[in-house]
Order: sequence, then C-alpha cells, then structure tokens
Amino acid sequence: MIYLKTPAEVEQMRAANDLCSRTLGEVAKWIQPGVTTRKLDTIAREFIRDNGGKPACLGYQGFPGTLCIEVNETVVHGFPSSRVLEEGDIVGTDLVVEKDGFMGDSCYTFAVGQVDEKVMNLCRTTLESLYVGIEACVPGKRIGDIANAIQTYCEKRGYSVVREMCGHGIGRHMHEDPEVPNYGRRGTGAVIRNGMCIAIEPMINLGSRNIVIERDGWTCRTKDRKPSAHYEHTLAIVDGEVQVLTTFDYIHQAIGNRFELPAITETKPSEE
Ligand code: MF3
Ligand code: CO
Repeated sequence: MIYLKTPAEVEQMRAANDLCSRTLGEVAKWIQPGVTTRKLDTIAREFIRDNGGKPACLGYQGFPGTLCIEVNETVVHGFPSSRVLEEGDIVGTDLVVEKDGFMGDSCYTFAVGQVDEKVMNLCRTTLESLYVGIEACVPGKRIGDIANAIQTYCEKRGYSVVREMCGHGIGRHMHEDPEVPNYGRRGTGAVIRNGMCIAIEPMINLGSRNIVIERDGWTCRTKDRKPSAHYEHTLAIVDGEVQVLTTFDYIHQAIGNRFELPAITETKPSEE
C-alpha cells in the first residue's frame, strides 16, 4: 500500500532529508586515503545525534552501522569496519536518517584520491542516471518510466543494472511501497501522483549485473568483483511538482564536484 503524504508531512520529510544531506556533507570532509570506514560511520552517527536525528539503519534488522559502506565491488549494505580506504578506491556511503518520525535517504559514491578513469566514468554515468530518473519522474506517468529511463541510459553506455535491489517509497518507514526498480518497461507500475515520496537509487556495475551476498548475510558485492556505483535522492510530489528533498550541494561544497556535472536544479516543475 502506498502512503500518500500531506503537504505538512512533506515538510517533515524535507527536514529529515535535509539532515541526511548535511550528514553526507560532513562525511565528505573525511574521505581520503588512510581513513577507516568506521571513522566515517562515527562522524555520521555523532552529527545526526547532535542535530536531533536518529541513525535509522543502526540496529535495523540487526544492521551494525549508521552508514552502509560500499567499497569498490560492494554494491550495497557493507559494514563499517577497520578497513582503511586507499588511493584509487571508490566508496559509497548510503544513509537513512530519522527525524521526528520521518525518514531521509541518500547515497553518494566518492572517489578516494586519484581513481582510474574507467571507474570514474562508471560513477559519472551512475550519477547522471539518477538525474535521468528524476527527469522521468513526472506526475501522471508511471514508476516503470523512471526505471526504463535509468536502464536505457546506463545500458547504452555499456554498464549493467543490478536487478535484485531497488529504490522504494519512503515516509514514516525506510521502505514503503512502491518499489522503484532501475530496470523495466515504460508505462508499467504505479502512477506517479501527489503525496508520493520515493527514493530513486541506481546501482550500476562496470561488469556483469550479477551479485552475491557475503556470508555475513548483508554485504552485497558484484559476482565478478568489478566495481559498482550507487547514488540516491529522495523525492516528493507536491501540487503536481517534483521536489528533490535531498541534495549533494553540501558534499560538493565540501569537496567540489569531481564529476563536473552542469548545475542541477533540485526542484523542477512538472510537464503541463
Ligand atoms: N539505505 C538503504 C536504502 O537505500 C537501506 C539500508 S538497509 C539497512 O534503501 F538495513 F542498512 F538499513
Ligand atoms: Co534507499
């Protein structure tokens, strides 16, 4: 069942998502060779608590971190650990923050120092595909239109789309209906309408789309151990308008925009 939000609830979603974005901006300041992923996790946890939020992943079905940590071949749900980031790694930090009963969800894949150009291009395309998905999120169209736009954009460029993991509705719960896959057919799935809040999160691989879950029961990596990238924004549809509730501005203010994307409008009017 899809829970539609009132405009007042969307304002609460905005606050939770802003805290999520600001937290990733703090994490960004620490990304460099030599830092442990546990340090990143501690920075996030303390910043959230200092700002009146709660780390929603911590303890969720037993998950042991505030951040999901995604180094190189890790697709999603990696644990923070004593692992030290090295020059040439990429690291995704996926974060869900709860504030006053509402959830904010965002993910950003960072480059650690100089990263191989092939891997940077994977990250760039994945980030671009998130915005392609957001462009395809139009009131009156369907979830499958978002999914198909992301899939087409990435596969045309030679990358593969992870199918087992999806974006999702979000609100008082981290995961609500509808599922928002990153592959699929246009004109299928739920109709996009006022009050919907969804998280769009392409997970894109350099090699094959196949994944395996490690023996810890959580860590999801590519089967061929080639790199995977992941970016995520949370959106709300209000008055026929799509509003992006998370932003990468705090990250880009902290470390610059390595992907040299054009300036992105985080709020756009619908096509009417
Ligand atoms: N942040 C993930 C998502 O985008 C979910 C985290 S799973 C958890 O949906 F168990 F770690 F919380
Ligand atoms: Co999510």
